[in-house]
Amino acid sequence: MMDSNSHRQTDARLKAEVIVTCCALGQHGLTHGTSGNVSVRRDAETFFISPTAVPYEQLDDIPLMDFQGRWYGARRPSSEWRFHRDILKARPDINAIVHTHSKYAVALACTGSGIPAFHYMVAVAGGADIRCAPYATFGTQALSDNAVAALVDRKACLLANHGLIATGHDLASALRLAGEVENLAAQYSAALSVGEPEILSTDEMIKVVGLFRSYGKQDSDHDPDLRFGGPSGP
Ligand code: 13P
Repeated sequence: MMDSNSHRQTDARLKAEVIVTCCALGQHGLTHGTSGNVSVRRDAETFFISPTAVPYEQLDDIPLMDFQGRWYGARRPSSEWRFHRDILKARPDINAIVHTHSKYAVALACTGSGIPAFHYMVAVAGGADIRCAPYATFGTQALSDNAVAALVDRKACLLANHGLIATGHDLASALRLAGEVENLAAQYSAALSVGEPEILSTDEMIKVVGLFRSYGKQDSDHDPDLRFGGPSGP
């Protein structure tokens, strides 16, 4: 059980993480102006979300929301609070959400196309493709429903004529995934401009999704030909 002092410290840390993530979106060229928004789960009942229509460099207070649509603080929450709430509610595996209007994700999403398995890295979003949710007006329940459906068994999706959503166990991983999806959207657009990309099979993508579970882990032993020889060489 956390005491009120620990609660305050956690809240201050999460609010600071929201601000840092919002600023990083601009710095990494993943969005511009006040487009895009960010949220992070606080506990079973509440989450922090970026405020609506505040330029990222001017962010000060970060609103808190509960899952019933009540908000607390000095600034109104993002107009996209519905999809942030509904994704956090539907997906206990997700603690953080980043939404951007990044250039290539938007370009592809304006054709209604998701990202098929043109490259094995598509598996970073959890499956054999990155879906594009059908268009609905920003801020609506219809958009939220479409986004939740496009995210089934996935960590990211595009939103038709709008942008992308990337999720993670924390804001840093959601931000990284937003960058990956934007990069994949740029690469897929480039591939389309020079020919018809070969699409990898579902079996191959299932294999890659499995490999990504151990990718980068120091204690991973999935490679039978690789053996640790000790901390220093012979
Ligand atoms: P907010 O400023 O309300 O977060 O809206 C920006 C946006 O990107 C809507 O999709």
